[in-house]
Amino acid sequence: MLSNKIKAALNEQIQKEAFASNSYLTLATWSEEKALDGVAAYFYAAAEDERQHMLEIYKYLNTYGSGAHLKPLKETSVKLKNILEVFHYVFDLEHEVTVSINKLAKLAYEENDFATFKFLEAFVLEQQQSEKDVTDLIDMIKRVGYEEKNLYYLNKTFKKNEERKALGKNPDLDVEKE
Ligand SMILES: [Fe+2]
Repeated sequence: MLSNKIKAALNEQIQKEAFASNSYLTLATWSEEKALDGVAAYFYAAAEDERQHMLEIYKYLNTYGSGAHLKPLKETSVKLKNILEVFHYVFDLEHEVTVSINKLAKLAYEENDFATFKFLEAFVLEQQQSEKDVTDLIDMIKRVGYEEKNLYYLNKTFKKNEERKALGKNPDLDVEKE
C-alpha cells in the first residue's frame, strides 16, 4: 500500500496534470481566436492527453492508496504575442511537469516504493518525448516563419500532423514551402 508521503506526492502530480490539461485548453482558445484551427486541434489533443495522465494517476492512487482529489485549479489565462511565444510557453509547461515527475520518481525510489517507481516509468519517458516533440515544433515554427503571411501554411502543417497522429503516424516536420 502507498505511504502517506507517496499519496500526498501523487495527489500533487494530479493537480499538475490537470493544470497542464487546462492550460492546453486555454491555448486552444488562443489558437481559435487567431483562426488557427490546425493549431487548436493540436492543443485539444494535448489537453486530452494530460487529462488521461491525470486520470491514470488518480485511479492508481485510489486503487493502491486512497483520497485522490482535484483541488480548485489556478487561472490559466495567457498573454502571448505569437505562436513562437506560445510554444516556448508550452516547453516551460512541459518542463515543469518533467521536473515534478522526476521528483516523484526519486521519492518513490527513496521510499523503497518500487511499484510506484515502476508505474511512473512511462510518465518519465513520456515527458522526455514531449520535451523533444515541443523542441522539434519550435524549430519547425522558426523554419516556416510565424509572420501573418506564414500562418496559413503553418496552420496547415499542424492540421496535417494531427491527421497523421489520428492514423497512428509520427508528425512530419520536414516542411517544405509550397
Ligand atoms: Fe502529462
